[in-house]
Amino acid sequence: MKALVLSGGAGTRLRPITHTYAKQLVPVANKPVLFYGLEAIAEAGISEVGIVVGDTAPEIQRAVGDGSAFGLDITYIQQSAPLGLAHAVLIAREFLGDEDFVMYLGDNFIVGGIADLVDEFRGTRPDAQILLTKVADPSAFGVAELDISGKVVALEEKPAAPRSDLAVVGVFLFTPAVHDAVQGIEPSARGELEITDALQWLIDHGRDVRSTTISGYWKDTGNVIDMLEVNRAVLEGVEGRIEGSVDAASEIIGQVTIEAGAEIRGSRIVGPVVIGANTQIIGSYVGPSTSIAPDCRIESSEIEFSIVLAGATVQGVRRIESSLIGRDVEVTPATGVPAAHRLVLGDHSKVRISS
Ligand code: G1P
Repeated sequence: MKALVLSGGAGTRLRPITHTYAKQLVPVANKPVLFYGLEAIAEAGISEVGIVVGDTAPEIQRAVGDGSAFGLDITYIQQSAPLGLAHAVLIAREFLGDEDFVMYLGDNFIVGGIADLVDEFRGTRPDAQILLTKVADPSAFGVAELDISGKVVALEEKPAAPRSDLAVVGVFLFTPAVHDAVQGIEPSARGELEITDALQWLIDHGRDVRSTTISGYWKDTGNVIDMLEVNRAVLEGVEGRIEGSVDAASEIIGQVTIEAGAEIRGSRIVGPVVIGANTQIIGSYVGPSTSIAPDCRIESSEIEFSIVLAGATVQGVRRIESSLIGRDVEVTPATGVPAAHRLVLGDHSKVRISS
């Protein structure tokens, strides 16, 4: 069995973070979302992995390399344009050969991995097996309709009037039967070869498409609060580890990870928190459910329930909550300007000011 991991796409829903960043590399507890997927694939006993890449190919390749760090053997497959998930299967035909495979969308996060699911599929081998989950906003997803016995009868991509609240999760198991399906469908209204249409094709041709409903799922539908929530959930499971330096004037409470080279001075840190390598926390409070990436500086500030990406500086700011702060961002007081905010914000930035 092989795996096909999709890591193209523009990531418009997580702007502005993804203006300069592949969406699959957005970190959860200081680790790219994509890495959790690759680890889940390795755990399921699969080692041959094709990664479909688009415009952000260099970044993905820099982060993942040849896959040996994950115990995987990775082949990169270039997709000329984001023409759909079924198009990705089409162009991966040579890599996939006639083997069964799991297709995993690199921006999806599934709590608990996929080992059980892959085992079940290996035992039963339906033509396709999909995962479903209840969501509040089904029209942002592929949506499945089940009959009374739980069998998938219809699938629709991003329907304006969804017929259920069961969204198609970005992990699919296929036998080679899917290759006829991806060749048999036409592009959708958004100009893409949809995987939901390929699944519908299989159903229409009397093939066996099964579903499993799961909980514990996250995808970047543009809601930063959801991202903070998945970060919180993952941090809950991280055991603290202190490799950086903590001075006597600091207090560390609960599960806190401080990576090598990080420096904590005169600060109070209440876990679960992760602090990346070479980050400095000086005279500050860092509260629960916060991830601070490497090479940041948090000084004379308070921050809680937030994600800070690499190289950011937060200085003299009380207090930051429920925030996602991008790479190399600077947040500092506006000195010398009475009662005014001074902002330099990139396209699609979102700022909520408390005054
Ligand atoms: C794709 C699929 C959709 C599925 C979603 C899950 O959507 O087309 O059916 O629900 O992934 O992540 P896209 O991310 O391409 O908009």
